[in-house]
This record gives sequence, structure tokens and C-alpha cells, in this order.
Amino acid sequence: MRIKVDNLSFGYDYRTVLKNISFTLESGEFLVLVGNNGSGKSTLVKCLLGINRVPSNRIYIDDIEIHQYRQWINIGYVPQKFDDFNYEFPITVNEILTVSRLSKIDEEARLSLLDKIGILELQNENINSLSGGQLQRVFIARALMNNPKLLILDEPTVGVDSDSISEFYRLINNLNAEGVSIILITHDVKASKANFTKKLRMENGRLTETLDNEVTS
Ligand SMILES: Nc1ncnc2c1ncn2[C@@H]1O[C@H](COP(=O)(O)OP(=O)(O)O)[C@@H](O)[C@H]1O
Ligand SMILES: [Mg+2]
Repeated sequence: MRIKVDNLSFGYDYRTVLKNISFTLESGEFLVLVGNNGSGKSTLVKCLLGINRVPSNRIYIDDIEIHQYRQWINIGYVPQKFDDFNYEFPITVNEILTVSRLSKIDEEARLSLLDKIGILELQNENINSLSGGQLQRVFIARALMNNPKLLILDEPTVGVDSDSISEFYRLINNLNAEGVSIILITHDVKASKANFTKKLRMENGRLTETLDNEVTS
């Protein structure tokens, strides 16, 4: 999946959060986005997802202007924790995966996905009983249910133990090798384990390309 952002500015109410953002993500690329808290990273991905309504002719997805874009099923999204989803109520792993399912995935494909993500045995667990790493895998499985061409992950390693983080990078590197484009927002030093092709830094709503290998913000 190809993303083009051309001179995008965006704000909530009167305050401008994103200032003249331009970048492209080519099909199959792996973009890491770093930057301080409050710099605008989550706001930018919500613009790409159509959650934040942006001005015309600023964002193109597979060369289609975002307001004309309809194939949202092709984009998987793992929101920042405690941001878009409240899991302080009793629900099982299977229920989360079913509730959010937009298209039919057959039982065999579903089980093979859960197996690949390593949560096959957790299907009937209450999500409140899961560790950070297990919960993160449930959200990734949810984002992968529809076979996305682009996977957007907003700080997915926060609260996840170090073994699970290594496992996480193996998983997304493999997905990327299979052709899934990735946008990963992270502060994580271990992101150096990500086989990213491009790294951008958000600073106070402006984007700067960083050429170094150091990933921490
Ligand atoms: N829904 C919202 N309404 C108003 N202001 C918001 C909203 N979401 C984020 N902001 C503000 O926009 C700025 C950027 O936030 P955010 O995109 O979450 O940054 P980051 O993800 O880099 O931490 C912050 O000042 C934040 O308070
Ligand atoms: Mg954020």
C-alpha cells in the first residue's frame, strides 16, 4: 500500500498540531515514527486512518484522495493503549476478535492466524487476566483479521515484557517481509530490531527525516 502526504496541516479546535507534513510511504516499506509525547504522532496516524478529518488533496492512499478512499479494510490499526479502547470490562479474547471483525474469515484461517500470533490457547481467557505482551498480541491479531496491506501500530510495546518485545519484532519483520507495509510509532530502543526502511521524527508537529540508526526519541 502506498501513502502520500502532501503539505498536511491539522489541528483540533484552534490549535494547529500538525504543520506542513509531507512524506511518502511506498508499498512494502516499514516506517518508524519517533518523537516526544504530544508532538503529534498519534494525530498524524489518525489522519491517515480517516479518524481525523483532513482538508482535501493532502492525503492519498494507493493514489486515491483520502475522501474518496473506501477500502479501509486494507488497513489494520493497533491504537495506542488507553487511548481508543477501554478494556476494564469482562470480555474474552474470542469476543474481542469477533466483535471487531468486519469481513468473514473462515475458521481455519482464523485459527491459523491465532496460532501464528501465539494466542491460540488464550481464546477463552478474560482479557483482564492477560499480561501486557499477551494483550498486545490480541490487538495485533485483531488488526490482522482482514489481511491488511498496511499495518499501523501506535506504541505497541508499552507495558510489554522484553521477551515479548523481541517476539513482537520478529512477527512484524516477518509480516513486512511478506509484503505488508508497516507504520510503527515507538519510543522503544529495541526498535533497532525492526527492519525499518525509513525513520521520521516528529518535533512539535513538524516532521524531520533522521538518517541515524538511533531510534529512541
Ligand atoms: N482529540 C483531541 N482533541 C484535542 N486535542 C488533542 C486531541 N488528541 C490529541 N490532542 C493534542 O494534540 C497534541 C498532539 O497529541 P498526539 O497526537 O497524541 O501526540 P503524540 O502521539 O506524539 O504523543 C497534544 O497537544 C494533544 O494534547
Ligand atoms: Mg501518541
